Amino acid sequence: MTKLTFRRPDDWHVHFRDGDMMRTVVPFTARAFGRAIIMPNLTPPVTTAAMAQAYRERIMACVPQGVSFTPLMTCYLTDHTDPADLVAGHKAGIFTAAKLYPAHATTNSAHGVTSVDHIMPVLEAMAEHGIPLLTHGEVTRQEVDIFDREARFAEEILDPLLQRLPTLRVVMEHITTEEGASLVRANKERMGATITPQHLLYNRNALFQGGLRPHMYCLPILKREKHRLALRKAATGGEPCFFLGTDTAPHLRHLKEADCGCAGVFSAPVAVAAYLKVFAEENALDKFEGFASLNGPRFYGLAPNEERVTYEQRSGRIAEEIEVGTQGKLVALFAGEPAPWVEVA
Ligand code: DOR
Ligand code: ZN
Repeated sequence: MTKLTFRRPDDWHVHFRDGDMMRTVVPFTARAFGRAIIMPNLTPPVTTAAMAQAYRERIMACVPQGVSFTPLMTCYLTDHTDPADLVAGHKAGIFTAAKLYPAHATTNSAHGVTSVDHIMPVLEAMAEHGIPLLTHGEVTRQEVDIFDREARFAEEILDPLLQRLPTLRVVMEHITTEEGASLVRANKERMGATITPQHLLYNRNALFQGGLRPHMYCLPILKREKHRLALRKAATGGEPCFFLGTDTAPHLRHLKEADCGCAGVFSAPVAVAAYLKVFAEENALDKFEGFASLNGPRFYGLAPNEERVTYEQRSGRIAEEIEVGTQGKLVALFAGEPAPWVEVA
């Protein structure tokens, strides 16, 4: 029986939503992780320090009694972001980072940034004050193939921006390609990247396995096998610039199984188990704590969690569906299958 003990991990990329959905999903993340970076793509988006503070309080009200969990808030950048509010929010300990959604790249990104040229004063202030920029790294031009959007963003947007602002610290979120991993490595002294469980476990064939699979659809979309292998190497190779970020993104079942289904994989209930499966398959369990519990805090300048947790490699049951109040149901990653690892202490 394989067991692994490691510092309590953190999740550096999480969508909690609001209302009934938030009440349903927060406990899964809060029980497994010590901290999480909370994405700001609500409707309306979290664009000011006051909105982030209020959202943080709503999240804390959903954390189960006796569970210690810290949400780290982010600012949704728009063409009209006020640099002074962002910097003041950062100094006040409300904003940990700011998120760049290219306009229309993904869920609730309509208010996103239309061009980085429009937010240069904000990015300059972030570079000056050490506020990390978190990117949804995909170009949005419709003529660019969906499978090429990340590589094009790395080459056309991010690389030039890094050269223009040599002290800006950047996390390329949910990388899905060799090209993404290479850009991060080339700038590793000031860049990091999160990697999701689904991009480590599946290639794009999973979207069409015997039929159309809406629960495998997320953005950036699953890529071809060579990219999945490159991501496995990045995650399990012990390089400090790569860290855990699930991008757990809950959408109700009927909104995913629809004519125009929503993008997002809800992985929170099985996130740690899913990553452990990957590391076990790669014979890299000795690298797991770095990826899950050390590299992220190191990038953000925070101390790692002191508490230790133990997981055991054995089958645990995963619910087929999870009810969200009276609104509908969620289908989690591995739904109905046995979870490959279980927390035992
Ligand atoms: O699949 C995704 N879902 N990708 C994103 O970038 C956003 C997320 C969401 O908010 O649903
Ligand atoms: Zn996300």
